[in-house]
Amino acid sequence: MISPLESMEHRTKSEHYALLRRQISALLSDETDFIANSANFSAVLYASLPDINWAGFYFFKQGELVLGPFQGKPACVRIPLGKGVCGTAAYHKTSLLVPNVHEFEGHIACDAASNSEIVIPLVANDVLYGVLDIDSPVFNRFDEIDLVELEYLTSLLLHNSVL
Ligand code: SME
Repeated sequence: MISPLESMEHRTKSEHYALLRRQISALLSDETDFIANSANFSAVLYASLPDINWAGFYFFKQGELVLGPFQGKPACVRIPLGKGVCGTAAYHKTSLLVPNVHEFEGHIACDAASNSEIVIPLVANDVLYGVLDIDSPVFNRFDEIDLVELEYLTSLLLHNSVL
């Protein structure tokens, strides 16, 4: 098995993600618990992706987003649907790339170091389960490759977990 902490240096972005696909598939293959899988998923992303300061989940519970497993500094616990980047992505069930969080109206600043952000909603059979949120101190850190690859990785998480 490939170590989740295997160095990502000296690889192209596509090579990083090819490795991440294998690492995350391996991690998910023996376990179906959604919280355990989400916890390891966020740990792998945080250890592997360069230039990020927060990676984790908010789960959709009783009409709002509630903090789930994550890596990084402590974050706000509850986010109303439609609020902030996470709440907006969740409300529309659409991934959001935010090159400069300071220009996103209603952005919720959990870590002052964050300058860009990507949010991927967790949706299966049109049901919202939450969002994956990743923050970076680098402006314009995330692009379409990150978006497509992270959507794929979150689909692995959803399909390999009991929801
Ligand atoms: N910035 C997010 C809040 C969550 S933290 O970044 C972890 C938002 O605006 O929804």
